[in-house]
Amino acid sequence: MTLRLVVTALDDSVPGIRSITLADPAGAELPGFVPGSHLAITLGDRTNAYSLTGDGLAPSTYTISVLRVADGAGGSVFVHDRLAAGDLVAARPPRSAFPPVARATRHLLVAGGIGVTPIVSHLRAARRWGRETQVLYAFREGHAAHVDDVLELAPDAELLVDGPDAFMDRLEKVLVDQPLGTHLYVCGPGAMIDAVVSAAAATGWPASRVHLERFGTDALAPGDPFTVRLAKSGITVDVPSGTSLLEALEGAGVTVPNLCRQGVCGECRIQVGAGTPLHRDLFLSDEEKASGSTLMACVSRSEGPTLEVLL
Ligand code: FES
Repeated sequence: MTLRLVVTALDDSVPGIRSITLADPAGAELPGFVPGSHLAITLGDRTNAYSLTGDGLAPSTYTISVLRVADGAGGSVFVHDRLAAGDLVAARPPRSAFPPVARATRHLLVAGGIGVTPIVSHLRAARRWGRETQVLYAFREGHAAHVDDVLELAPDAELLVDGPDAFMDRLEKVLVDQPLGTHLYVCGPGAMIDAVVSAAAATGWPASRVHLERFGTDALAPGDPFTVRLAKSGITVDVPSGTSLLEALEGAGVTVPNLCRQGVCGECRIQVGAGTPLHRDLFLSDEEKASGSTLMACVSRSEGPTLEVLL
């Protein structure tokens, strides 16, 4: 299913961050979504996934915020330089990737930089449903999106602008001071997420109460090497650490359709004959991932040393 959406507003009030509001061209209600969901949008020749900032209940608009990335590899240059109010864009319905846990008694929400976007979504939903929250938001002063939204939704949110060491000092105190049943949600740069997850583990948080959202290339750890066997041609191809399955197949002269190369568009889906995929995409549903019958070659890998694909 593809949604056709019109750009109804652009907000450039924060340097380097553009917030975009999208709506149905006829004003119809949009598909609802779970807080922390993504919207995969095709902009120019790229498809990228962005976190929605609404609470997801009966939305009339979708709002995303896009950080300008200097090399433009993720399509952010298109968003910043070419997208205009009134433009029509194609999108896939929102997909949940970072949902709040309903049984949590309290939600500790930790955001770094543009990683605040799904946290704003969580916060809006928490306010709507009366859930207890605590918010830490770390950013570089003058470069933070949604500060006003965060403070309006959580007036006691802590805005941390003194750098990583001060942030970690504060985080460690907060982590040891949570009642039983609190769940931690973190979204931000990869290094920050890793530091938060490590600090939580070191202070005794079970992994089941720690939820994280990586985005962009941060999601792509180099991964272990494996060998892929192509069932139809019988050839085998080595996939080294740091090389994607898609790149390895292309290197062996095997053509696989692709578009986003980020695990969001669904173009590079291939069938699995044997072995267990290590899914790292945002496209397949949980059920599809659990079945293990397909994988997205641009980002996903193999759990074991070999994988057979039906190519
Ligand atoms: S190329 Fe888009 S999901 Fe792989």
